[in-house]
Amino acid sequence: MDGNGRWAKLRGKERYEGHIQGVESVRRVVRAAADAGVEYLTLYAFSTENWGRPAEEVDALMTLFCSCVINETPELIEQGVKVSVIGSRTRFSTEVNARLDEIEERTAEGKVLNLILVLDYSSREEITMAVRNLAAKVAEGALAAEEISESLISENLYTTGIPDPDLIIRTSGECRLSNFLLWQASYAEFYFPQTLWPDFTEEEFRKALEVYASRERRYGTL
Ligand code: FPP
Repeated sequence: MDGNGRWAKLRGKERYEGHIQGVESVRRVVRAAADAGVEYLTLYAFSTENWGRPAEEVDALMTLFCSCVINETPELIEQGVKVSVIGSRTRFSTEVNARLDEIEERTAEGKVLNLILVLDYSSREEITMAVRNLAAKVAEGALAAEEISESLISENLYTTGIPDPDLIIRTSGECRLSNFLLWQASYAEFYFPQTLWPDFTEEEFRKALEVYASRERRYGTL
């Protein structure tokens, strides 16, 4: 969800106002994804690298995440959305973690759409953690090195049980992954619209799905 800061700057506003406007796009895209029959929607909302932003912006984002939980949960329950949070979460305050636990618990019965919020996430950190876990099992004799397979590595990532992404959309014209789902994105299709995230509409989301549907996925075969 890139381009919130630029959206705000273009309007002479503070960066956090772009994030607030970005919540409107989140609402639109969640609705459009559910309508289109998408089963898993993953939103990259805060990377581990984002802790390096000025304290005011980080604080504003934390406040926004908490207020979103409070304001959006009833609507998400109504829509049948099940929210899961992935990421390290060791650096969040008790308040933020409590809110995130709350949204997971209260939406746990959702059957229409799985909404994965990616927060305090670094794909390299995730892979490092998985390697460390598996190495520890080998060291204690619970696992043979030859038993380490692609599926075992997948099972040791935050995304265990979540299918690999079919389509990755990054708004605002930036064409890079920025430490997002590096392992899981091996065969994903990519779509990089110029639109800044706060301007991203249902129509643009549907267009992204159409572009995806027109792609031929060969997974390395002919
Ligand atoms: C990147 O744009 C966006 C973020 C770091 C924050 C995204 C958060 C939201 C949209 C808030 C709502 C999210 C949830 C899950 C409730 P940027 O600030 O890097 O934009 P720039 O590149 O134009 O500066």
